[in-house]
Amino acid sequence: MENFTYHTPTKYVFGRGAEEKAGEEALAAGMTDVLLCYGGGSAIRSGVLGRVAHALDSAGVNYVEFGGIQPNPTDDKVYEGIEICRRERLTALIAVGGGSVIDTAKAIAAGVPYEGDFWDFFTGRKVEKALPVGVVLTIPAAGSEGSGNAVITKLDGLHKISIRTDYALRPKFALMNPELTFTLPPYQTASGIADMMAHIMERYFSPSEGVEITDRVAEGVLKAIIEEAPKVMARPDDYDARANIMWSGTLAHNGICGTGRKEDWTSHAMEHEISAVYGVTHGAGLAVVFPAWMTYMADRQPAKIAQFARRVFGVENHDDRSAAMEGIMMLRAFYGSIGLPVTFAELGVASPDIDLLVKKLHENKGERIGGYRTLTAEDTAEIYRLML
Ligand code: NZQ
Ligand code: ZN
Repeated sequence: MENFTYHTPTKYVFGRGAEEKAGEEALAAGMTDVLLCYGGGSAIRSGVLGRVAHALDSAGVNYVEFGGIQPNPTDDKVYEGIEICRRERLTALIAVGGGSVIDTAKAIAAGVPYEGDFWDFFTGRKVEKALPVGVVLTIPAAGSEGSGNAVITKLDGLHKISIRTDYALRPKFALMNPELTFTLPPYQTASGIADMMAHIMERYFSPSEGVEITDRVAEGVLKAIIEEAPKVMARPDDYDARANIMWSGTLAHNGICGTGRKEDWTSHAMEHEISAVYGVTHGAGLAVVFPAWMTYMADRQPAKIAQFARRVFGVENHDDRSAAMEGIMMLRAFYGSIGLPVTFAELGVASPDIDLLVKKLHENKGERIGGYRTLTAEDTAEIYRLML
């Protein structure tokens, strides 16, 4: 097991009516003047934005609304938000939405106190200081409510870059009411499920030895997700199933499954190029990428893929490569059963420009990527071809 420090200072308030605590939690976190961020309109239609605004009003918290943040969020909204915060002297942010809204809020939070271009943080500069961010989560998927990460696309060149901070960008609080997810379209629910599974698998497929505890934590959360997923797909208002899926999304990405181990993250890097260029939903993209990456590994380094197949899907085959291939087949079947794509064509990308994806991938992430096994451009091109 590797050495580690685990420190996740986010306060989670979970359950029915959680969003109504926005005012008191904002004050407890010292937030008096807030940029209230939201997306393309679902938060208005469901009424959650109104309830959060009401809670802030009641607590005497001053706020300015900032909507229109799109999925796969872009740098233009970050510049706009930074400008508003400076002009209106806002010193905190609350994001009502999913990964796209939260990540935009985080990037604005880092950008406001910094004199240079916020994009510097996406090209290597460390985030030392940021405004506090609070979250009202409406979709379990990206796990950004509990992560120190933010993912933004620079429109010029379509560079989708993920940054990872230890503490600076972790939300101060996350208000999580599973009822808010009843209105999710099935494709978004399913994509969120694929994303949270991928967050666990990126950590599970590790070269680190002696990590039985986090292997078992990861397998347990994966099995729970696979069990709960059909229930939320069949009955979108099944509170307990929604609650289990929502909390899984946080546990998948708040670091607990990665303690003491090296992580991989190749599939995410490869998917980010697909969603940057083709605008697909991130989790759906991962349902295509991950099994292809695993197929590539089954031929070269099958042991952990076989362990996953046996422990998560109950595969009984004793040969590692065959067990791995059986597990991959079952993973694909699971994705298919909840309406997710498993090929480029099913994802809606009829003729992907693989040369372009590979070029951008290695420009953005370096010549060699991956923790489970290091991959070059030749390898990643082969993995992209396995998605055809
Ligand atoms: O924009 P609105 O109208 O709100 O609609 C959204 C959006 O269209 C809709 N939605 C959200 N909650 C809803 C709802 N519709 C009905 N009812 C509700 N309760 O869902 C759509 C997707 O929203 P988005 O915020 O994009 O979803 P998600 O949480 O999947 O975030 C995806 C982004 O997060 C990044 C992804 O790359 C992508 O850009 N990631 C961020 C990570 C992080 N910060 O730690 C890690 C992830 O690996 C991921 O890369
Ligand atoms: Zn993800």
